[in-house]
Amino acid sequence: MTTMESPAEHASAAASGASATERFHADKSPFEAVKDTPPERVDMLAREVLDAVHATIRKHKVSYDEYNALKAWLINVGQDGEWPLFLDVWVEHVVEEVATDHRQGNKGSIEGPYYVPDSPELGAVGTMPMRENEAGTPLVWDGRITSTDGKPLAGKIELWHADADGFYSQFAPGLPEWNLRGSFSTGADGNFQITTIRPAPYQIPTDGSCGKLIAAAGWHAWRPAHLHVKVSAPGHESLTAQLYFPGDPHNADDIASAVKPELMLDPQPRPDGSEAMTYYFVLDPVGA
Ligand code: DHB
Ligand code: FE
Repeated sequence: MTTMESPAEHASAAASGASATERFHADKSPFEAVKDTPPERVDMLAREVLDAVHATIRKHKVSYDEYNALKAWLINVGQDGEWPLFLDVWVEHVVEEVATDHRQGNKGSIEGPYYVPDSPELGAVGTMPMRENEAGTPLVWDGRITSTDGKPLAGKIELWHADADGFYSQFAPGLPEWNLRGSFSTGADGNFQITTIRPAPYQIPTDGSCGKLIAAAGWHAWRPAHLHVKVSAPGHESLTAQLYFPGDPHNADDIASAVKPELMLDPQPRPDGSEAMTYYFVLDPVGA
């Protein structure tokens, strides 16, 4: 086996942006899904967004220099492949809020740009694919999927997360293809047990156009450490969520505004240095 490159040395905004853009195009048929949208709705949405832009320009007397800087920046976001990153960090959380507001069970959180379908199938009890000596505190997670009436569900959990350096496989170079990506399935009792490691807080790439905006506005680029999940079961609405760790300094100021109190974990240290935790998912029946 060849020596792995270190992601820390070689990850770049352009590379992870290009991967995220390519992945989005590979997975989704976004125009097909809205092909029956009437022109009245397109007109209303486009007009109201433009009205908001016009109002900001008038209110703050935006200059031609500022307009040209905006134009150059928007062009560069595309050239860096950073539209998935920009939209998922600064817009998706409100789409998610609107989409799941009606639910009685878990409401969820943003998907972000780094989901990959068809990760390795690991059954109801399993260990995430990881390198030998993968860094990070081992985590043993006992969980269950139930319906809103409390009945256990035979379903599926897809889990993906960053490593202890904050890097995602298939988006940062040098990591094994399915590192820290796995699919688990529950039986009729709804139970699962997943062994993985604690991810690190994640900094969105700072060397591209989004990083330029963050620096120019005096913001920070951090997301708190998080586990991404997609949970599904027949006859139920699928859940996309993220789970967070208490005490992370960025739980309170997540750049992606994607933390909710119901998504907080409670890991407990065990004598062997690992941590044990429980988190149960509650899915809404379709059409309830
Ligand atoms: C981004 C990365 C994430 O891991 C995430 O959960 C949300 C957004 C990003 O880089 O845009
Ligand atoms: Fe993430």
